[in-house]
Amino acid sequence: MAEPSRLSYGRYLKVDALLACQEPESARAGAPAHDEMLFIIVHQAYELWFKQILHELDRIQSDFAASPVADEHLGRIVAGLSRIHEILKLLVVQLDVLETMTPAGFLEFRDLLTPASGFQSVQFRLIETRLGLSDPRRIRIDDQSMRERLAPEDREKLDADNKPSLLGQLDAWLARTPFVALGDYNFRESYRAAVIAALKRDATSVGSDPSLPETQRQADAAAIEKALAQFQALFEPDAANSPWRMTAPAIEAALFIALYRDMPVLQLPFRLLQSLMDIDETLTLWRLRHALMVERMIGVRPGTGGSSGSGYLRATAERHRIFFDLFQLSTYLLAARDLPPLPENVRRRMGFSYGEA
Ligand code: HEM
Repeated sequence: MAEPSRLSYGRYLKVDALLACQEPESARAGAPAHDEMLFIIVHQAYELWFKQILHELDRIQSDFAASPVADEHLGRIVAGLSRIHEILKLLVVQLDVLETMTPAGFLEFRDLLTPASGFQSVQFRLIETRLGLSDPRRIRIDDQSMRERLAPEDREKLDADNKPSLLGQLDAWLARTPFVALGDYNFRESYRAAVIAALKRDATSVGSDPSLPETQRQADAAAIEKALAQFQALFEPDAANSPWRMTAPAIEAALFIALYRDMPVLQLPFRLLQSLMDIDETLTLWRLRHALMVERMIGVRPGTGGSSGSGYLRATAERHRIFFDLFQLSTYLLAARDLPPLPENVRRRMGFSYGEA
């Protein structure tokens, strides 16, 4: 006789409970729709992966909450972010499985779902909020915020999670970056001088090129002036209508990391920034894929949750970007030949010096 207390696959994973969680509405209504099982299972699989993403964010954010962030934790923060990215990639391709359902197959049970909608996924909202999508940035529907449209019990779940956002933590961590000003070295000044020198060189070559027609010369000169103004505005804090969400010191440090990414102490911070961009990009891809799938399934009909449907979803892909600042930084990179070399004392501080006395 099997010992009741011995662990088994089924007991460990609570398989019976898990498999008892699929209750198609169409069967309840007496007209079973074959594809509703797929619809339920795909959504439930999403919720499980959302749970894992939040689990990773818990540790990442608690590691990130320390000031300074422990050196030995930086590696696992990056590993956790990479894991989230891999999960998100899976979540994008998972839509392929749901797209084996035809729009006609979906119509067989869609009306039974109203007013339920993915819009009400509390875990999805938690992921967005934890990453750094703030309420004021969210698109409103019928002049209501996302929170206002949730049922009170869902709103409470969201409000119970009042952790700081990863974007805010990233900002604070970047703003503490040493090396941007070390002794006589000031990154901001050295970078600005390099940008001006590079743009002046371009301006001189445009001005002295006899083959260029006058109109072209003027257009090129205006473009260089504009680029100079853009670069100069980069470090001007709190400028009105700033396109940045991060603070000026954080942007400066992120740029420094991107420019000098090969320095040993910057390699892991650079990977961290890359991972955040991977996450932002893949989440955006999911939003776009989901919007396209919605168009395929219901055309431009409104959603069961009361939004305009695909129009709303496409707009979220554009507007709900979280780490967009990191992408914007690429505008300000310099080619290696224009990059000012770091002073020797700064280089030494940024190297791995094993075995030195
Ligand atoms: C036939 C398949 C699907 C259709 C037709 C569909 C339709 C929609 C529509 C129209 C919306 C906008 C809100 C509304 O008015 O209801 C929405 C939102 C949403 N759906 Fe889906 N969906 C489908 C599958 C999925 C799946 C598999 C997931 C995975 C969890 C999902 C998650 C979400 C989420 C998280 C939102 C909120 C997006 C936001 O507000 O940024 N949906 N869906």
